[in-house]
Amino acid sequence: MDKILEVKDLKISFRTSSGTLKAVRDISFDLERGKTLAIVGESGSGKSVTSKAILGILAGNSIIEGGEILYDGKDLLRISEEDMCKIRGDKISMIFQDPLSSLNPIVKIGKQITEAMILKNRASRKDAKRSFNNHLALLKKNMLAANDPSMSAEINKLVETLDKMSIEGNKLENNYNGEKTEAVDLLSEIEDFLFKASKKQKLDVKKTLSEFEKALAGINDPFLTAHYDDKLKELGAELSAAKNAYVAPKKGDEATVLSDEITSVLEKIKPILAEITAHQAPNFFRIGYYKLMNPNASLTEMPIEEFNEFALKYLDENFMKEFISLESKGVEYSFKQALEKKKAVIAKLEEAKTFYAGEFSKADATKLCKELSDEVEESIDRLETSKDSVAYTFRTALTTAINKYFFYLKNNPKEEKRFAKQSAKRDRLIAKGKTVTWKVVPKVVFDLKDLKADIVAVIDRLIVRYTDYIAKADEVDFNERSVAIIDYFKDKASQVVYKVTAKMAKERAIKLMEEVGIHEPRTRYYQYPFEFSGGMRQRIVIAIALAADPDIIICDEPTTALDVTIQAQILELINNLKKERNLSVIFITHDLGVVANMADDIAVMYAGKIVEYGTADDIFYDPRHPYTWALLSSMPDLDTKEKLDAIPGTPPNMIYPPKGDAFADRNKYAMQIDFEECPPFFDVSETHKAATWLLHPDAPKVETPKAITDRINRMLSKSGGEQDGE
Ligand SMILES: Nc1ncnc2c1ncn2[C@@H]1O[C@H](COP(=O)(O)OP(=O)(O)OP(=O)(O)O)[C@@H](O)[C@H]1O
Ligand SMILES: [Mg+2]
Repeated sequence: MDKILEVKDLKISFRTSSGTLKAVRDISFDLERGKTLAIVGESGSGKSVTSKAILGILAGNSIIEGGEILYDGKDLLRISEEDMCKIRGDKISMIFQDPLSSLNPIVKIGKQITEAMILKNRASRKDAKRSFNNHLALLKKNMLAANDPSMSAEINKLVETLDKMSIEGNKLENNYNGEKTEAVDLLSEIEDFLFKASKKQKLDVKKTLSEFEKALAGINDPFLTAHYDDKLKELGAELSAAKNAYVAPKKGDEATVLSDEITSVLEKIKPILAEITAHQAPNFFRIGYYKLMNPNASLTEMPIEEFNEFALKYLDENFMKEFISLESKGVEYSFKQALEKKKAVIAKLEEAKTFYAGEFSKADATKLCKELSDEVEESIDRLETSKDSVAYTFRTALTTAINKYFFYLKNNPKEEKRFAKQSAKRDRLIAKGKTVTWKVVPKVVFDLKDLKADIVAVIDRLIVRYTDYIAKADEVDFNERSVAIIDYFKDKASQVVYKVTAKMAKERAIKLMEEVGIHEPRTRYYQYPFEFSGGMRQRIVIAIALAADPDIIICDEPTTALDVTIQAQILELINNLKKERNLSVIFITHDLGVVANMADDIAVMYAGKIVEYGTADDIFYDPRHPYTWALLSSMPDLDTKEKLDAIPGTPPNMIYPPKGDAFADRNKYAMQIDFEECPPFFDVSETHKAATWLLHPDAPKVETPKAITDRINRMLSKSGGEQDGE
């Protein structure tokens, strides 16, 4: 399974005037690429805190007590704000409950959508160039090391060719993009012009048409105009004639009325421009090679589709076959080198576990941490294009865990002393009969045993990851990996030249607005947030979230502020966008009903913990935790007139979380042990687990409540019925 985000043992507290509030207590979950994970739970269960932690926007009084959030080789809890900025909104976007809170009330909607696009584009182009160069240098090094020395000259030449062809491709692509942008701009201006004219706004028709004429003549990139050249010239002439025939309105007449000729020729130009801009793009990486080898050949003899195919064959036969055969040896070499180092490092990691579980000095602990981290970093196969976050973040994770141990080793006694002193003082004053208005600040002390266990857990996790890696080493297909690396170069090369101009951003914004279901986007583009209804605002927020083409979208109760019909529409929109764009979604809600048709996986949260975790089917058809039962029975169901079961009682005060199962107080199935000890996760199946003592083999058998089984039967018969009906 392809995990795009991993949250591990996340623990977050808040400093408050009445003590430390434990908002998130040791939660772990994975988000799979292209899937939706729903996090469901009552108000205050820690859903928003979790999502804010992922985006690095926790409030100032938060304390990250432990855990990791792994994404693309990084631990999001431990990267700099500068690095976080590159991820926030760009790779991971967020949609909040209240759309107004994410919109700037005094900036027009259009600008709010385009702003991010332009800024992010600049940063990502720079990044792409660096990644391309670094990766190519690394590949070359490995190819040289893996192959016979007699091949050195050949390898150098091949790598140089790869670099040159990408430069050649870049040049062509730059020109193409530039002129395509002009075509996009022109189309946008014509649309605007016709729109304004239809509203009878005052316009300088002759001047604008001259500009259109010039812009039209400027579009002559061979790929763009290969099949439209004559048509464009013809339309240019028509436009010129219409312009010359145009008679400006008399003085005093403010409204613009276009002549039929003008409207008609502009209407004819529009689809041509639309076709040009929607045209399949040439594959510049391949064509770059053809051009490098045949500098004088014509590139537009064939239609683009055909030429793309031809160029691929040409590239394969003359270059790629040889390149990949030498490359895959380099890739294998790099993999095996790293694999040997992984095997060696596992033994060291095992020793380190014993070391950190015992007594150690700070100097020794830090020294070992550095040695281990150096070795782990050497054991990473840097040629792999998808980064293994656990290995990449090992150094920071281990360092943090060790520093924390030593911090509290020193701080705990200090804190105990302070607390004792202040409490004693308070008691003294009270004993003297004085009124004391101040409270003693609660003590923050950590169990050193737990902190040691955290250090060991970091090491243990890498051992598990590496053991798994080693076990699967034989399955690796180096040819496949080599092709993936070529794709990586291709991607980076085209990111370098992909420049988003203001007008391009505007057209993309308008497209996005259309995509999220805003009517008349061209008018709406210039409006302020207050001119939109709640549902429309949420659509705009979704458009903004999509603007940078993120991998992950976090939706925090995106529909609670909306009425039921709009709610359904927004959910459907999110669902469709997810499918079309292969997005990974974290969907946060207090209403299980909302996620029924959306979630692939569900995590049920209660009092800062995940109490049940499974696929949507597991949770809906085979729920095991009494809290999940309670959530399910409080879910409205169209087929029953029965009164809904509200969950009795209230969640516990998280400044003093209960010792046992936090739900015990409200749970009519609670047993003695529920009040004494926190239940661990019990596996129900490979995909499904729940933290309730009811699953312990010695627990008395408790039947799923009838209300739930009835509901399940209804759901089953309903889906069965639908299938029969088809
Ligand atoms: N900045 C803060 N300072 C103190 N406590 C906080 C802070 N932010 C959140 N909390 C507390 O953390 C706990 C979890 O809050 P969170 O916002 O994650 O709840 P939630 O599950 O999103 O609930 P809701 O459904 O109401 O949005 C709550 O008890 C909340 O009061
Ligand atoms: Mg919330």
